[in-house]
Amino acid sequence: MIATTAGLLRKYDVPGPRYTSYPTILYWDTETTLARWLDSTARSLSLAELDGTGAAIYVHIPFCRSLCTYCGCNSRITCSTSVGKAYVRSVLKEWELYRRQLGRSAPIPLSELHLGGGTPTFLSADELDELISGILKHVKQTPDAEFSIESDPRVTRPDHLAVLRQLGFRRLSLGIQDFDPRVQEAVNRIQSEQQVRLVTEHARALGFNSINYDLIYGLPFQNLNSVERTVEATIRLQPERIAFYAYAHVPWVKPGQRHFTEDDLPSGEEKRNLYEFGRTMLEQAGYIEIGMDHLALKTDSLWKAAFAGTLHRNFMGYTSRFVSPLIGLGVSSISDSWDVFVQNEKQLETYEARVAQGEIPIFRGHELSEEDKILRRHILNLMTRFETCWDSPELYVPYLDSVAKKLEEPRRDGLVRLSANGCEVTNNGKAFLRNICMAFDARLARQAPTTQLFSRTI
Ligand SMILES: C[S@@+](CC[C@H](N)C(=O)[O-])C[C@H]1O[C@@H](n2cnc3c(N)ncnc32)[C@H](O)[C@@H]1O
Ligand code: SF4
Repeated sequence: MIATTAGLLRKYDVPGPRYTSYPTILYWDTETTLARWLDSTARSLSLAELDGTGAAIYVHIPFCRSLCTYCGCNSRITCSTSVGKAYVRSVLKEWELYRRQLGRSAPIPLSELHLGGGTPTFLSADELDELISGILKHVKQTPDAEFSIESDPRVTRPDHLAVLRQLGFRRLSLGIQDFDPRVQEAVNRIQSEQQVRLVTEHARALGFNSINYDLIYGLPFQNLNSVERTVEATIRLQPERIAFYAYAHVPWVKPGQRHFTEDDLPSGEEKRNLYEFGRTMLEQAGYIEIGMDHLALKTDSLWKAAFAGTLHRNFMGYTSRFVSPLIGLGVSSISDSWDVFVQNEKQLETYEARVAQGEIPIFRGHELSEEDKILRRHILNLMTRFETCWDSPELYVPYLDSVAKKLEEPRRDGLVRLSANGCEVTNNGKAFLRNICMAFDARLARQAPTTQLFSRTI
């Protein structure tokens, strides 16, 4: 790292969005009606059909057996195994409401199905089968359809994997976070390398061909030694992809994060060094950084997409291609028709009650303005290609005139190179990608938050 890095990390360590969407959810207008959402989804589906592609469906399963104290996800902690059945019925009812209200007689074309959470493998193998079969019964899969699932190695059994494989899943994402016993104890998540090995090997034997590991840097008590051990174990197990997330500390939204004290957290330079150190080890082992906090082997479709320039980013994170619409089912799920965003009720009981009453349970949304769409394009370019430019009129809005001024200081600090109508992130600037995207965020500029909304950028 360059000599002034410590100073830069201090200077740019500010609260900021992670840009899985633009505008970020806290800046949505929230006035979108269900009718507008359905209308734009129907249009997006027709376009997909014309192109020979299909929708993406995301299903959120909120349940987990115990709370990992760092967790920032929408999760419901419970030991009761009876909640799964009722929840599966609610999601299938929501799916039926969609089909009816979209007014389609033909099956919905489907290119991607992703189960996330919480912990989808909290459900039994039979419940997963009922849920997924119930969705697939009413779709027509495109020839290149891809199914993926997030799972926790502590609760993923051979029968889960067998059912998923039978249903067509080939991508598996395992929550690892850290292999160090002291860190694991501090975050209330004990899992051994052997446990992870067994699930990984079993999945591979069944034919899963892309396995992702989620790691986090910036957890309590992490240091270079613990990251070294975690990354060594990861390299031994050879996942095709790695999400190496920056720990997002948002205790005002997630009180579970108050289970450890902030003094135990590496911050600023110390935190970033953990990432640089881990990334260097992974690069030496053949992984390539393909976007913010993500690495992949050259054999994986995420690397191939980054190489071909088709890498995309949406509410689910990085994906290897653009697919629209994205229909989110289940509590707190976010949907995106490319013109309109909506989010489902975030509280489980409210979600289930509204579905039972026959309502598609959205509670907020946003219709993108022309300016939003153009600024989204630039933020996406930066997140997926580390550069963007607004040479052509379709990529220009007057707000961009102020961007060069906002990026002048990052330019002097060696984080970006500016051209007449564009900018390129330097190698040193990659650590500050969120800050660079913030220069393009007109909504943030016009209405600076008065309370802390976002995690810190470093
Ligand atoms: C839904 S969980 C993955 C599946 C399963 N629940 C598990 O934990 O194994 C999604 C991932 O988000 C990441 N995550 C959760 N809370 C986070 C936080 N506060 N900061 C950064 N990453 C976080 C973790 O890496 C986690 O694996
Ligand atoms: S990290 Fe995963 S398993 Fe842990 S509480 Fe969050 S969603 Fe549940």
